[in-house]
Amino acid sequence: MGLIIRVKKSHTIYYRMSFFQIKKYLNYCLHAKYRKGYGLHSPFVFNLVREVFYCEHSFYAFDLIKEYKNELKLANKVISVVDYGAGSSNFTSKDRSVEKLVKASSISTKYGELLFRLLQHINPHNILELGTSIGISTLYLALADRRREVLTIEGCVETAKQAQIAFDKFDCSNVKQFVGQFQDVLPNLVAKTDVLDFVFFDGNHQKQATIDYFNLCLTKVGANSVFVFDDIYWSKGMSEAWDIIRQHPQVTVSIDVFQLGIVFFNKDYSKQNFVVRL
Ligand SMILES: C[S@@+](CC[C@H](N)C(=O)[O-])C[C@H]1O[C@@H](n2cnc3c(N)ncnc32)[C@H](O)[C@@H]1O
Repeated sequence: MGLIIRVKKSHTIYYRMSFFQIKKYLNYCLHAKYRKGYGLHSPFVFNLVREVFYCEHSFYAFDLIKEYKNELKLANKVISVVDYGAGSSNFTSKDRSVEKLVKASSISTKYGELLFRLLQHINPHNILELGTSIGISTLYLALADRRREVLTIEGCVETAKQAQIAFDKFDCSNVKQFVGQFQDVLPNLVAKTDVLDFVFFDGNHQKQATIDYFNLCLTKVGANSVFVFDDIYWSKGMSEAWDIIRQHPQVTVSIDVFQLGIVFFNKDYSKQNFVVRL
C-alpha cells in the first residue's frame, strides 16, 4: 500500500492516507475548479453547487447528529466487528471502539451534511444505502425527510445492532435495516423496486464488487435517479471503478468532489464530468 501518513480529513478528524490517496488528492487539488459555481455553464450543475455544496444553512438535525457523535466518542464502548468489505488500514483487530468507528469509518460531518442537502434538493421517493456501519450516514439520509423510507444494508450483526440504537434514539421509523451481505440482500431489494431514486454506495470498496453493485442498481435506474459513491479514491481499484462508472453510456453528468462521486442519468444533460472544488 506504500507510505501511510496521518492527514486532516475534512475540518475535524485525522485519518491515515496511503501514498496512492495522497497522489490522487494532489491531482484533485490541481484540477478541481468551479469554486462556489464560478465558471460553470451547466445551469443544473451550477444550481447544485450553489444550493447544495456551498449552502451555509444549518439544519437542526446537524446539531443533533454532531451531539450524538460526540456522545459515542465518549462512550468508551467496544464492539466485535466482522469485516465483509475490503478491510481498513485504520483497524488491526476485530474488536473496534465505537469512538474509532465514528472517526474512521463513518461519514464526516462535511459530507454527511452535503448528502442531507443533496436529498433535500433532489427530493427522491426512495433511498437505498449499501454499508450502514453504526448508522451515522443513515441518520443524515433519514433526517433529511422523515417521510421518505431509507433502506440500508449492513453485513456485520454487532455493527448493525449499534446502528439500530441510533435509529431508535432518533425515532427513525423511516429506516429499514437489512442485516446480511450485499450480494445476498441487494438482488431482492432491487427486484422489489420499480425505480431506484437515490443509492449511496459505501461498503466493500473493491473494484469488481463496486461495479457489480452499480450494474445491478442500473437495471432500475430512472431519468431522475442519483447514485453517490463514497471513497472513490480509496484505492487504485476504486479509482478504476469510478472511471468505469462515470464513463458508462447511461451516465450523463458526473461530479467528483474527491471523497464522493455523484452520477446522474437524465438524458437532458449532455455528458460531462465535473471536478468540483469544495
Ligand atoms: C465505510 S462503512 C459504512 C459507513 C457508513 N455509511 C457511514 O458513513 O456512517 C462500510 C460498511 O459496509 C459493510 N460491508 C462491507 N462489505 C459488505 C458486504 N459485502 N455486505 C454487507 N456489508 C458490508 C461493513 O461491515 C461496514 O460496516
